[in-house]
Amino acid sequence: MCETSRICSWKIAHVLDNPIRRLIHNPQEILGGHIKPGQTVLDLGCGPGTFSIAMAKMVGESGRVIAVDIQEEMLQILRKKAALHGLESRIIIRKSGPDRIGLSEKVDFALAFYMVHEVPNAKDFLKEIASVLKPNGKLLIVEPKMHVSADAFEKTMDIARQVGLSPISEPKIRFSRSKLFSR
Ligand SMILES: C[S@@+](CC[C@H](N)C(=O)[O-])C[C@H]1O[C@@H](n2cnc3c(N)ncnc32)[C@H](O)[C@@H]1O
Repeated sequence: MCETSRICSWKIAHVLDNPIRRLIHNPQEILGGHIKPGQTVLDLGCGPGTFSIAMAKMVGESGRVIAVDIQEEMLQILRKKAALHGLESRIIIRKSGPDRIGLSEKVDFALAFYMVHEVPNAKDFLKEIASVLKPNGKLLIVEPKMHVSADAFEKTMDIARQVGLSPISEPKIRFSRSKLFSR
């Protein structure tokens, strides 16, 4: 899905967000059981916003989605899409720093879909996410089988446990390795 560099380029945003992808990784199926109206939720490495847009519909008018990415171009695509759907007021768009996401808000739910393997320091990254989860807040990590071996995924899961996250379940998601954590 991505080019050879560590970060998936915005130039292939269309591969991440299109009707076929949304059939394979149906946001409602994947996230519907975790997100409720009124919640504040986080889409980490949101890319072109496949999940951010769906999450904004799930949290409703009183909820908020904080969509974070390191590439301004991805955020620009999401900005346009949010406007097209009339969802600008529900989606807070933030550019992540190279080492820190830099969030001050606490969130009910965080999604890290196909992005943790792109982060250079998974421990610092997961520690920061754990710190912004509300008590009982959840984090869903999903990684692509194509790029992340079972061993590499287990190492990331160990790191998540080390930073204080408790594994709850392993949701079945096509072509993916996944784990749901609670704070
Ligand atoms: C493979 S894409 C996945 C996009 C989206 N989550 C999806 O599944 O459609 C990975 C995204 O993570 C972003 N990313 C990589 N490292 C990041 C970091 N340290 N902080 C924030 N975003 C990052 C990339 O810019 C890219 O948009």
